[in-house]
Amino acid sequence: MSNTVNLDWSKLGFGYIKTDLRYVSKWKDGQWDEGQLVEDNNLVISEASTALHYGQQCFEGLKAYRTKDNKIQLFRPDENAKRLNRSCDRVLMPEVPVEKFIDACIQVVKANEHFVPPYGSGATLYLRPFVIGVGDNLGVKPAPEFIFSVFCVPVGPYFKGGMAPVNFIISDFDRAAPYGTGAAKVGGNYAGSLYPHKLAVSKGFADCIYLDPATHTKIEEVGAANFFGITHDDKFITPKSPSILPSITKYSLMHIAKDYLGMPVEERDVLVEKLDEFKEAGACGTAAVITPIGGIEYNGNLHVFHSEKEVGPVTKKLYDTLYGIQFGDVEAPEGWIVEVK
Ligand SMILES: Cc1ncc(COP(=O)(O)O)c(C=O)c1O
Repeated sequence: MSNTVNLDWSKLGFGYIKTDLRYVSKWKDGQWDEGQLVEDNNLVISEASTALHYGQQCFEGLKAYRTKDNKIQLFRPDENAKRLNRSCDRVLMPEVPVEKFIDACIQVVKANEHFVPPYGSGATLYLRPFVIGVGDNLGVKPAPEFIFSVFCVPVGPYFKGGMAPVNFIISDFDRAAPYGTGAAKVGGNYAGSLYPHKLAVSKGFADCIYLDPATHTKIEEVGAANFFGITHDDKFITPKSPSILPSITKYSLMHIAKDYLGMPVEERDVLVEKLDEFKEAGACGTAAVITPIGGIEYNGNLHVFHSEKEVGPVTKKLYDTLYGIQFGDVEAPEGWIVEVK
């Protein structure tokens, strides 16, 4: 695949940059149109769109990676497509066929391939697919029309000075109600998280950790990432709850822990009172792959895991294996990688 634009990849953060083309498809009268690539990065929609008033929308996040031999590849885009459709179902929007979703992602990467950062920079091309309810509507009901769009932005390596642990604080706020929309990637979940995030940052933490809303005893999400812990006897443990967003990174790490590192894996309750069962802990998601958790503050006490300064050895192995798979340096399980050709 071709050369890259002249950007200082090492200075890139996670911020919006307009790239050349984005994909837009419209749903009307029961079907999606074919979709097309457009230059304009503005959407013109009705002021009465349900996405604007009632939060009828959902989104996804995935990345394109440039490999050592200059190929470009997507990591498990079918899983993002399936999750987008579960989110669409939850807020009564039409599903996007998996092939259409993957085709849209491929079209966008190809049309912007010179924005895919060079191998070795640690930077990637982040793709943001989304579906929004649009068209004239006033009552609280599903929109008459929908837009499915995908845009892309080059993003920098998450850890500029090497991977480093950060501290989190348990929030008194809830992210999602029991039987609510926590498992869907819908905007409302994120609007509600802005204030607790701001509070956590103002107290010197990277973000907050949400407990289960019904009992406030179990760990659910770490900001916008899933939690995992490594027990003293080397088990990979991650919370199980219907109100957590099912992280594709988390399920990939579970597979890697079991099949690549030979670790027992359990998805089960993680009690905030029992953090000392873990020797290491981390947050996982597409953006960072893994953010090592140095410590967690709960009721005024900071519980430190491996170290506040250094990454634990198991966390490092998990990170290196997944990162290696994503950038094509480690052999991937069947079906995880889609090459953009
Ligand atoms: C609330 C929340 N949890 C977890 C994740 C991690 O999910 P994934 O690994 O699929 O990026 C994300 C990011 O998408 C998120 O927004």
